[in-house]
Amino acid sequence: MSAFLEAKVLSVHHWTDRLFSFTTTRDPALRFSNGHFTMIGLMVDGKPLLRAYSIVSPNYEEHLEFLSIKVEDGPLTSRLKNIQVGDSIIVGKKPTGTLLIDYLLPGKNLYLLSTGTGVAPFLSVIRDPDTYEKFEKVILVHGVREVKELAYQDYLTKELPKHEFLGDMISQQFLYYPTVTRENYHQMGRITDLIENHELTKNLGLPEFDPKNDRVMICGSNAMIKDLKHLFEARGFKEGNTTIPGDFVIEKAFADQ
Ligand code: A2P
Repeated sequence: MSAFLEAKVLSVHHWTDRLFSFTTTRDPALRFSNGHFTMIGLMVDGKPLLRAYSIVSPNYEEHLEFLSIKVEDGPLTSRLKNIQVGDSIIVGKKPTGTLLIDYLLPGKNLYLLSTGTGVAPFLSVIRDPDTYEKFEKVILVHGVREVKELAYQDYLTKELPKHEFLGDMISQQFLYYPTVTRENYHQMGRITDLIENHELTKNLGLPEFDPKNDRVMICGSNAMIKDLKHLFEARGFKEGNTTIPGDFVIEKAFADQ
């Protein structure tokens, strides 16, 4: 039996010349938890060419959504960036990953810290009603170089608060904190710096990071993950994994290949 399912492209959106997202059909056999990633790709010369991608869409949606960068000579993304509505992609049958609320201990505030395409799994986590059952406040921080890379910003600020089922929870419990590093914007700076200089919590009107109350998910480049892991460990936070829940969990943003 094949390890893959076929999915048909339903829509493609190019955010910038380096960033795009697309939706596909979803085989009813594909089950996943919000925050999971799976292998996706294309058949090239009769062989599957695959990379890990976090699933943007929540697990109750009928379709799947993915966010990707375009790498000039990336074996997969240089092809994937040209996909059109009606094309086929292949999707791995076994989604997995550590960015699940189940792998965090109970807490008060859930911080979702992302850079670049690392925001992808959090789009799914923030649309899971269980996230708002488990945490009082859910804070999505997205760090990018340029304003136009703030993918889903309009969706997060304009559409989601009006969502039929999630709207009330979003309005009362969800906070979105975009930050830009290489262009002028009303919120600027690297996430690491914004934590060290207390700007993040101050601007959000929340108390200082404390392992008693705060839980953290981290998704971004290797460098960002490494720095944030050290930063939280220095503040007494313990890392969780798929077998032992902790105060924070991490995952590399895969779509950089
Ligand atoms: P900067 O512009 O200062 O490098 P990239 O597109 O390279 O993945 O970067 C996305 C965002 O992540 C940028 O705002 C970048 O800031 C920031 N960034 C890069 N490295 C780190 C790091 N080690 N810790 C925190 N943020 C980082």
